[in-house]
Amino acid sequence: MRKNDIKHILKALFDEPLSSIDLLVNREKEIDSLNMVCSLQPAGVYGVCGETGVGKTTVLNFVKPDEGERIYLKLTEKESKEAIIADMLYKLAVEVKKSKTTELLKIAKQVIDFVVEERSETSSFGTAGGVFVTGNLSKSTTRTKKFNIYQAYELFDEFLEALLKKYNKVVLLIDELDKEKKEEVLVILDSLKTVFGKDGLVVILSLPFAIYREYVRDRLRWNESGNLENILKDTFFIEPLDDKQIQQMISKRLMAYPDYFDGDALYEIARYSDGNPRDALWISQQIVQSNLDNERITGQIARETIKKIVKRYFENSWELTDLQKKVLRIVADHQGSRSAIVKELEKRNVKRQTAYTYINRLKEAGLIIERDEKLRVSGKIFYMISL
Ligand SMILES: Nc1ncnc2c1ncn2[C@@H]1O[C@H](COP(=O)(O)OP(=O)(O)OP(=O)(O)O)[C@@H](O)[C@H]1O
Ligand SMILES: [Mg+2]
Repeated sequence: MRKNDIKHILKALFDEPLSSIDLLVNREKEIDSLNMVCSLQPAGVYGVCGETGVGKTTVLNFVKPDEGERIYLKLTEKESKEAIIADMLYKLAVEVKKSKTTELLKIAKQVIDFVVEERSETSSFGTAGGVFVTGNLSKSTTRTKKFNIYQAYELFDEFLEALLKKYNKVVLLIDELDKEKKEEVLVILDSLKTVFGKDGLVVILSLPFAIYREYVRDRLRWNESGNLENILKDTFFIEPLDDKQIQQMISKRLMAYPDYFDGDALYEIARYSDGNPRDALWISQQIVQSNLDNERITGQIARETIKKIVKRYFENSWELTDLQKKVLRIVADHQGSRSAIVKELEKRNVKRQTAYTYINRLKEAGLIIERDEKLRVSGKIFYMISL
């Protein structure tokens, strides 16, 4: 293949959250529900959950309220609750400043100055459970300063009030909170409850999966003293795509090269990805890079390449026992319900209880996946154990 074509193909398969609808596959339902919340609900904090790479940021990019102001914040600071809240405040101020709305410029600037000042004087706050931090400013002076979280809340509150006064309705999308630990996120959400509880303010956050699970249990009253429903009005789970949708996603991106991957190659890419669009893009790029001389990628080429790559990347990360391998192979060959797989294992002299335990553990480790009540091995494992 010509170098220029390869470049184009790799660019088309580049992993980046989408913002144009032409390449979007599925997700109408999720986007519609979130847009409905933004347009119809008076206020509240909402969560978006899903595995990494499944398309949370992509979905958030299409959330647009029919009135009011939409503000998207991507968090990057991670080391403590204080750092994360400071980051939210700072990023919000930067966005508002960009919009050049005169009446908000003063407070936006004040917020930026506050965060910069506090952050630079508490350069390592959040370490060792401490809010008190000592930093050597010069050889002769040592200063201790506390990050003023109360002032931060106050400023946050004032800032949001000012925004609401100007726009009536504000939709605040806060991305990347799902990369934090569940406990930390809960503490943050709890501490911002009052600040976020404002008429006209809808906050949508990307949250870790553990919080989604807990939220559902709280709503069902399965937890003894759950109070997540107090903090979150609702949560939305972004499911993996199905195999057809993954194939469609790759085809759409390669519109200019419709014959490059044949149907069987697309099938293999989808099988590997387990419905995760990021994994599908990654393996597709890997296949391109490993076969620079090929004009077309057939199913066989794709399969051989995926096997090689899986071997190189994952072989040493899992040390499987013989019994684990046996269970995985049966799941791979039969792809049935849990009880059907257990029956197959019993036929091969694995005790019933042992079979259930193994299946559960392999599922927890992500090596077995359950979709539509059927078990299958994950894409990576499938290619690792297939000869
Ligand atoms: N519905 C979709 N249609 C087409 N492509 C998608 C879709 N969803 C996600 N993608 C692609 O998959 C990749 C991952 O998506 P995205 O970055 O939105 O995931 P994420 O869940 O936000 O990931 P992270 O956990 O890293 O934040 C991106 O390259 C994006 O373009
Ligand atoms: Mg994201």
